[in-house]
Amino acid sequence: MPSKITLIGSTGLIGLHFLESIREDDFPDVTAITRRKISNLADKHFIRQAINDFSDLESMRPDLKTDVLVSSLGTTIKKAGSQDEFFKIDHDLPLRIARMAHEEGCRTMILVSSGGANPQSSIFYCRVKGLLEEALSEIGFDRLHILRPSLLLGPRTESRPGEYLGKLLMQPLSFLIPWKYRPIHARIMANTIQQLIRGNEKGHYIWEGKDLYKEVDG
Ligand SMILES: NC(=O)c1ccc[n+]([C@@H]2O[C@H](COP(=O)([O-])OP(=O)(O)OC[C@H]3O[C@@H](n4cnc5c(N)ncnc54)[C@H](OP(=O)(O)O)[C@@H]3O)[C@@H](O)[C@H]2O)c1
Repeated sequence: MPSKITLIGSTGLIGLHFLESIREDDFPDVTAITRRKISNLADKHFIRQAINDFSDLESMRPDLKTDVLVSSLGTTIKKAGSQDEFFKIDHDLPLRIARMAHEEGCRTMILVSSGGANPQSSIFYCRVKGLLEEALSEIGFDRLHILRPSLLLGPRTESRPGEYLGKLLMQPLSFLIPWKYRPIHARIMANTIQQLIRGNEKGHYIWEGKDLYKEVDG
């Protein structure tokens, strides 16, 4: 079992579910790199919050001396403001951070990517996700787990009308939708990440559809 876990994207839907669900017995040394303090983790003293505005990635290097890097970092094209900015956030940032972690000795990376990720996709979002997956696979991690969820379910404070409509239409009919395209709750994703951290098998893996539903922990 790896001893040190570092997470980027800590304040997001999956990041928060992961941090709120982990227990000290299983994960005694966790660092959440975050742009703003997460207030509801006060009772989890084993989670260290490393506040960083991500403008000087080198300053993050000491926090990237870790056994496992988990990335659930990402934005939307709308929030980023342009395709170029989206590429910088969803591709360049996690890639640069992953390279630094690998330089610091990290041998396992878990990436929350997206269903449809494909470096050749004609859809910009899917292409960016696919390019990131491809670049990460060339870094040399012993274990690379790429998770490709479809639409994520869970409580969000921010309004995302497209996602909301998708959930409204897809949730009641979920059982009719092929596994690969079924919405998945962030709680399930958080559990899957925990299970993958526990694994020790070397290799590069892509998890999607039914395979994202790992046996529920505890
Ligand atoms: N939403 C979906 O239905 C869906 C479906 C498939 C895949 N995905 C992908 O799954 C991943 C996790 O999704 P999620 O819904 O949990 O994400 P989320 O709630 O949107 O959270 C994104 C995280 O990334 C951080 N982040 C965004 N821009 C950043 C920047 N410029 N610098 C540093 N940190 C930044 C955010 O930090 P702040 O809180 O500081 O902004 C937050 O911690 C993302 O890559 C997303 O693209 C999402």
